[in-house]
Amino acid sequence: MAVTTQLLLLASLHVLSVAAQNNPTTQGVKWLEKGRSVLVRLSTPDLPLWNKEEQIGEDIPSALILNFTVSADNKTLLLQDQPFMPPHTPPRLSAPQTSQSLSEFEHGTTLNLEDLPVFDLDYDRIAHPRDDPSIHYYNYYPKLMINLLGAGVAGHNALLKDMEQKVIKITLRDWNTVRSASTDPPNHSFEIKEVKLWERQPGDSVNPDDLKACTLKSWRCSDFGDHPWYRYIFRQNFDEYGKIGSFRHMLHQRWATLYERLGFFRITLLILVVASVILLPIPYALYKGGQWINAQHRARVEASAAVWKDNDEEVEGLLFADESLENMYGSEETESKEVFSEKQVDGNEAEGSAEKPLPPVTAKTADAPEASEK
Ligand SMILES: *[C@@H]1O[C@H](CO)[C@@H](O)[C@H](O)[C@H]1NC(C)=O
Ligand SMILES: *[C@@H]1O[C@H](CO)[C@@H](O)[C@H](O)[C@H]1NC(C)=O
Ligand SMILES: *[C@@H]1O[C@H](CO)[C@@H](O)[C@H](O)[C@H]1NC(C)=O
Repeated sequence: MAVTTQLLLLASLHVLSVAAQNNPTTQGVKWLEKGRSVLVRLSTPDLPLWNKEEQIGEDIPSALILNFTVSADNKTLLLQDQPFMPPHTPPRLSAPQTSQSLSEFEHGTTLNLEDLPVFDLDYDRIAHPRDDPSIHYYNYYPKLMINLLGAGVAGHNALLKDMEQKVIKITLRDWNTVRSASTDPPNHSFEIKEVKLWERQPGDSVNPDDLKACTLKSWRCSDFGDHPWYRYIFRQNFDEYGKIGSFRHMLHQRWATLYERLGFFRITLLILVVASVILLPIPYALYKGGQWINAQHRARVEASAAVWKDNDEEVEGLLFADESLENMYGSEETESKEVFSEKQVDGNEAEGSAEKPLPPVTAKTADAPEASEK
């Protein structure tokens, strides 16, 4: 009896802890304008409070502040003034750091963000569904997850691996899809529906070393197969040419270097030269092709002239009821039979000239081009 109670107690404790784990909170979420602009205070146990004057980290609890705001035209969700949803190419993000406690943040007057130290961020971002314009959504409620993975200030960097740190999830609503489907291209009219902070799950704290290596074998080294390509944005892995190590990055960098060295004028010249080297064979091939067609045509004309001349004497009226050259070729089939039967009577070269419409005398000169035509 005692054992069962204990077991039950354990079981209910377990259920409780699981429930607590998955229970999202809105603590640290502060609306500046309902539905349009919201600040999120994200506690970062791994980050010391940066002292700007002395350029050192102090062992004081601190948090980063993120600003999610819908753009003036309602088409885009901005994070720290950068387009973030629909999922654009991942931006470089930075965030001010505060030592304000949760209640100070929630109830105090808006803090002056200008004076705060600013950290550059590494992050994990997922948008769902990703914005595929070919899919038409009714009642479109896209969701966005952002999980900060690292932060750096003044050359000091830290990974944010503490399980106490939260994951931000945002739900948007697209008012242009309420009674109609989304269009292609999409014409969003976003409202921020919901912002919540969720417990981290095992696997949510990612090391840059955990990610698969980026090599020249891959064009982009993307995390998934279409726009916006990347989920894990570590600053060390990206620069202005894209993901470091990828083939695309190499090309962009080479091109930029070339452009820098040569300048606009010489680059244009180079392109012209390369293009002409590649394209010149085309006019040449056309010229050659034209010549060949011409030769073929001339050969035909000569051949038919020969047929005309020879047959004129032997089978007059049989072949050339029609004057036109085209029709003469059209009637070749019957013509060859006629001539052939005549030759069989002769008994000469029956096999060799079976297909040839001409009398033996002219066969050598006139037939060659025609045979190659078949
Ligand atoms: C954006 O949405 C707000 C309501 O959230 C609305 O008042 C405003 O007119 C919208 N602006 C545009 C350009 O659609
Ligand atoms: C939040 O961001 C918006 C636009 O990105 C900006 O206009 C606004 O001033 C910011 N608010 C704060 C408190 O930083
Ligand atoms: C996009 O939606 C807005 C309302 O949010 C509307 O005024 C505008 O005409 C739409 N534009 C297009 C191209 O459909």
